[in-house]
Amino acid sequence: MSDVIIVIGASGGIGHELVRQLSDNYPDTTIYALSRKSQSTTFADNVTCQNIRTDDEKAIHEFCQSLDAKDQKVRLAISTVGILHGEVDGLQVEPEKRLEDIDNEQLLRYFHVNSVVPTLWLKHLVDRMSDQPSQIVCFSARVGSISDNRLGGWYGYRASKAALNMLLKTAAVEYARRAKSTTLLSYHPGTVDTALSEPFQRNVKPEKLFSPEFTVSQLLSLLPELRADQSPYFMDWEHEVVTW
Ligand SMILES: NC(=O)c1ccc[n+]([C@@H]2O[C@H](COP(=O)([O-])OP(=O)(O)OC[C@H]3O[C@@H](n4cnc5c(N)ncnc54)[C@H](OP(=O)(O)O)[C@@H]3O)[C@@H](O)[C@H]2O)c1
Repeated sequence: MSDVIIVIGASGGIGHELVRQLSDNYPDTTIYALSRKSQSTTFADNVTCQNIRTDDEKAIHEFCQSLDAKDQKVRLAISTVGILHGEVDGLQVEPEKRLEDIDNEQLLRYFHVNSVVPTLWLKHLVDRMSDQPSQIVCFSARVGSISDNRLGGWYGYRASKAALNMLLKTAAVEYARRAKSTTLLSYHPGTVDTALSEPFQRNVKPEKLFSPEFTVSQLLSLLPELRADQSPYFMDWEHEVVTW
């Protein structure tokens, strides 16, 4: 029996850096870097890159069964999965500025990627978590905080991250029974200089635009502070609580 780490969505700006830092911090642990894209980067020897459909339940199930076959349990799983703009299954999505921009198909894409996909992973991981203190992190966003919504706009992205938070909070009730050592964390990374935020960086003060290196190291230093009996958490890059 061995414990492993999984990064779901390993090719993105934050995901790639997560794999890099995790492989440095946990050189003796197998790290699965899962992505829909084949990855050209060579990581450290403890990293296994797997090109799988991380958004497809059959592929998720098969991957989890491969862990069972190797007698592996999960000590840390991090989903970076998220979409704000760009092409999703043949549709170009763009955050809505006003009610008139709301589109049925676009909303469904936001909910599928940002809410449903991470939740499918919560479903399949519940019986595969380590008995040792373990964690599942879903990259959320402060804009998914219902109580913090002062600006409006970005209907689909906001609502799908709020839904992710609710799904994670609901799953936490069941995890508390079925995976008692596991902490669930919804994480706001700040505004990070990646392809996802690139079109929206103009109004961000330079000191508030973080590098992937910074937000990932902030996340990894937060993890040891979390306690399963306080799960779930919604926290940000500063280690501050975000209101749900
Ligand atoms: N950057 C920011 O300022 C910021 C702020 C707040 C929250 N976040 C959140 O942080 C997370 C990581 O964002 P990022 O900045 O690293 O963006 P990114 O570079 O665009 O990466 C997005 C990740 O989401 C995955 N993904 C995208 N579409 C998917 C789909 N249809 N099915 C499955 N996976 C999909 C990709 O995984 P593959 O490896 O499979 O391509 C990729 O790793 C996201 O959840 C985002 O909402 C980012």
